Amino acid sequence: MVLRSLFICRATLPEGFFEGACDMHSHLLPGVDDGFPTVEKTLEGLALMERYGFKKLKMTPHFMKDYPQNTKLVIEEKFKAFCQDHGNNVGVELSLGGEYMLDSCFLDRCAEGFLTLDKEKTLVLCETSYMMADPQMKEMIYEVMLKGYQPVMAHPERYNYASMPLYNRWKEKDYLFQLNLLSLAGAYGDPAKMKAHELLNEGLYDYVGSDLHRIENVDRMISAIRLSTKETDRLLQLFENNKQLD
Ligand SMILES: [Fe+2]
Repeated sequence: MVLRSLFICRATLPEGFFEGACDMHSHLLPGVDDGFPTVEKTLEGLALMERYGFKKLKMTPHFMKDYPQNTKLVIEEKFKAFCQDHGNNVGVELSLGGEYMLDSCFLDRCAEGFLTLDKEKTLVLCETSYMMADPQMKEMIYEVMLKGYQPVMAHPERYNYASMPLYNRWKEKDYLFQLNLLSLAGAYGDPAKMKAHELLNEGLYDYVGSDLHRIENVDRMISAIRLSTKETDRLLQLFENNKQLD
């Protein structure tokens, strides 16, 4: 296995790889979480995405107990205000979703209605802490699946506690997986990078997002991505899947 991987030819992403792409996970809504702090920074971030060729972008602020002020109504209002003030000056089509921590607030957020990723309003972007999942995670997800929602696990490669057997169990339960693009370049460390490549090769991802929190290092990280032909094809398919979201 090690010997074989030594001989796999990996290359940088081709020019124009992101042309027409949709990003389904970002923290560009200004001033609501640990993402972009100001409108000015957000406009810089959107200009960067436009430069790479992105045509659509979903803002997915954090919903978690650390940000109790982020209710559905508050976030919808802030998104609407941003679009009214700046939408005409932005070359990327914006839409709104959310990223929901599987914590003690999760079912409250469910009760007010999730900001979903898709037209059918079923796909919910979910995350856990990097160190461990909430002990009630399975039960919480089961409860929302009974209501017709389907979880999309954000950046599973980043969870220190998770490995292939757990990923396979999650897939058996119909959880979908979203790759963080820059995990492939090692932006979150080598273990996450290795798991990202493994999950991509195994075909376990369904979507891909930037999870953009700031623009520093983005150019350097994108140019550091090295993929095999198979991985490049798989990544292209994930961007195709993204286009099916609204
Ligand atoms: Fe995120």
